[in-house]
Amino acid sequence: MSFLVNGAVYQVTPRPGQCLRSLLRELSWFGVKKGCDAGDCGACTVRLDDTPVHSCLIPAFRAEGRNVTTIEGLLGPGGDLHPMQKAFHAAQGFQCGFCTAGMILTVACLDQGQLRSLPDALKGNLCRCTGYRAIADAAAGLRHLQDDLPGGGTFGCNIAAPASWDVVTGRVRYTMDAEVDGLLHMKILRSPHAAAHVVEIDSGAALALPGVVAVLTYEDAPQRYFSTARHERSADDPDDTLVLDRVIRFAGQRVAAIVAESEAIAETARDLIRVDYDVLPALLDPEAAMRPGARVIHDKPASSRIHDPSRNIVAELHGHVGDVEAGFAAADVIHDATYKTQRVQHAHLETHGAIGWLDEELRLHIRTSSQTPFLTRDALCALYDLPRDKVRVFSARVGGGFGGKQEMLTEDIVALAVLKTGRPVKLEFTREEQFAASTSRHPMRVKVKVGARRDGRLTAISINILSNTGAYGNHGPGVLFHAANESVALYRCSNKKIDGYAVYTNTLPSGAFRGYGLSQTNFAIESAMDELARELGIDPFTFRRLNVVRPGDPLVSIDEGPHDVEYGSYGLDQCLDRVKTELAAAPPAGLSADWLIGRGMAAGMIDTIPPRGHRAESLLQVSGDGIYNLAVGTAEFGNGTTTVHAQIAAAVLGTTVGRVRIRQSDTDIVAHDTGAFGSTGIVVAGAATRAAAAALAAAILDFAATHTKEDRKACVLCKDHVMAGGRRISLRELVAAAAACGVVFTSKGHSAGSPRSVAFNVQGFEIAVHRRYGEIRVLRSIHAADAGVVINPMQCRGQIEGGVAQAIGAALYEEMLVDEDGRIANPTFRDYHIPAFADIPITEVHFADTFDTLGPLGAKSMSESPYNPVAAALANAIRDATGVRLHQTPFAADRLYAACLTSGAHLRP
Ligand code: FES
Ligand code: FES
Repeated sequence: MSFLVNGAVYQVTPRPGQCLRSLLRELSWFGVKKGCDAGDCGACTVRLDDTPVHSCLIPAFRAEGRNVTTIEGLLGPGGDLHPMQKAFHAAQGFQCGFCTAGMILTVACLDQGQLRSLPDALKGNLCRCTGYRAIADAAAGLRHLQDDLPGGGTFGCNIAAPASWDVVTGRVRYTMDAEVDGLLHMKILRSPHAAAHVVEIDSGAALALPGVVAVLTYEDAPQRYFSTARHERSADDPDDTLVLDRVIRFAGQRVAAIVAESEAIAETARDLIRVDYDVLPALLDPEAAMRPGARVIHDKPASSRIHDPSRNIVAELHGHVGDVEAGFAAADVIHDATYKTQRVQHAHLETHGAIGWLDEELRLHIRTSSQTPFLTRDALCALYDLPRDKVRVFSARVGGGFGGKQEMLTEDIVALAVLKTGRPVKLEFTREEQFAASTSRHPMRVKVKVGARRDGRLTAISINILSNTGAYGNHGPGVLFHAANESVALYRCSNKKIDGYAVYTNTLPSGAFRGYGLSQTNFAIESAMDELARELGIDPFTFRRLNVVRPGDPLVSIDEGPHDVEYGSYGLDQCLDRVKTELAAAPPAGLSADWLIGRGMAAGMIDTIPPRGHRAESLLQVSGDGIYNLAVGTAEFGNGTTTVHAQIAAAVLGTTVGRVRIRQSDTDIVAHDTGAFGSTGIVVAGAATRAAAAALAAAILDFAATHTKEDRKACVLCKDHVMAGGRRISLRELVAAAAACGVVFTSKGHSAGSPRSVAFNVQGFEIAVHRRYGEIRVLRSIHAADAGVVINPMQCRGQIEGGVAQAIGAALYEEMLVDEDGRIANPTFRDYHIPAFADIPITEVHFADTFDTLGPLGAKSMSESPYNPVAAALANAIRDATGVRLHQTPFAADRLYAACLTSGAHLRP
């Protein structure tokens, strides 16, 4: 057939059943993304003639004679940007940018009327990162950017992301946006059973299919146990996983990997493999799994670091300070209840994927969508007995992570296929695999008992956590310890007790998720604190002011250490006061008597860096043209660290952000970076960049003083030159002069992530609940954050808006349903509802005015913590509106209605 793409004529023959999205990508129009291939996300949006369509739903042959415009084709004839591309740049209407091409193409087609009703017009386009505020601002033509100033003057300003132009024009490259000669395609055969032994695999028919290159089974994989979780200390997670295993522990586990010349052939071959399973009864409930006599899910030696395999307990935690029983005896009021949180998915729009190949020197290269390239490299070396210099792992731009890409879920099997076949191999998860075979947030049951005296002072806190780690223990211990730590450490109370268990079940493995366990325990504890305050008749803000820790108070940790957390700054008091004031100032909602109005709040604390080591190195060099080249290990997945690193370097070097060029997330460019998780992109990697910039500035000024024979104190580093006394020498000239003396301006900076500071978040909501239907509407969302010095307010605000939006979804409706056979029952965006534009209110964001003495240039972390207090703040607002205390997320309308009926509270007037 013949058709036009962005003005160019193509003569092609689509394969039977091929969709327009995959055809366009095969023609290298990589601005067309895949988020779901089911018409639910809008990432694949293109213009077909003049109409925006989801190209994954359009059969390719229907493009015959038509004119297709992708994001790349929106540019004018002279390369001018389309006004909507400019608008998304000016408002920075993106974070990871994976949805941005589809958003821009859709918004660019809207008329004035549709622009006024974006919730309706954008119902087919999902964004998981932004919370939609920045997208609405872009559509409205708002400009948030500030100009790039010399002298480091842009520190604290809204500077554009360095990749901004590439994001809005579709030039930016993600993992799958690569052309690789001779590429093979991998598909995974996954178990339909939650618990089974593989008796036999018959691959004969699959291998006989023309185009099939290999079928990999447990017989081809190393019998070496590892964890898919990536941490600086690999001993933090149990070694309980094999690349391919005969023992099946969840529905969706890998059974075989098919490598073929095309995806279609690999899929056909997958269906030809016959597997004989010995099916076992599945253990789906963690309470049952830890009972004596329950079937053992992992039968491993002590070296695997599973705490008690005989009881399916991967990790256990017990600790106390003071005497809780005496504390409860001294209490005038006690709240004692059990809270439950559900399984939720990260739902980053870019699915997991990796491409691997060997170069001429047989060095293994893995291009992957990962938050942890360095730790993934180390894991591959250990698995396949490869020296570090024989493996390179790198990430292009990552299309969202939220902790889900702090795992090795594709790289190990791709590496195996590359090493077996000697050819380049690609594996890209489908959306269904993302739900059924990646990881999720840990479902938890949290028993909370808190007591206080009549004057409002806490006398005792006790929590008991049961965390469902699923089939494998990746992040199980870490999430349990973290969940138990800051949620309790937030309160000054002499008597605290914590018990916790992370338990194996035959369900999808849980893993790292934004908040790392804190969102679950925060829901329980902040709900309990609200009940205490109500019982005592004390305003919830006043109750927190009475009981939260203040500088000087011990930060009581029951974790085994290290105890290196300090008050580098403290802004919780400001956050509490600000949300209280703003909530009180809410204008009347103006709703009918059908609606009950309520207000609620919750607070959260987070250590700014994970414990037990997080290391980063940054390298800086001045090139011959006087540009600073910065190499960092941390990945960019929408968290904005690239911009912030440029701002830190520019501030220290006295230059503009535009004169700092950044390369990142590649094991070949710096020695080490633990990874972009735990909100460490600024406080660890950023600290390394600050150190490298300071060392480089000193080296340049030392040389300038020697070269000009001026006093060192009279030398000042400016935008692109040094002022030495009254003389101006360009950096270009200085670099040349230094080179003539054998001097290269280069520096390294390191950070080890200790000591650690604390950051705080307070969320407030005003909501309305419909008396007859239980519908919940968020009327106002107010968030105050103690982020230290805010290096880029626009980006930091976006992180908070996105975190609150994601948490609203988890609090109100997101839930991965597990059927009676252990399978995920809703593995699509159509059935697993993530917030769309219409679902999310604007969150008003406020920052405390603090300077952190431990963070780089006063900054603290703020990527994941805004998520944590949202569910409790909503629950507390529902309680305020209806009188009903909800003990389980999500707060779906039917659950709320049932709770009202059960409690005797009647929604009907
Ligand atoms: S990829 Fe087409 S709508 Fe999601
Ligand atoms: S910016 Fe929208 S999905 Fe990441």
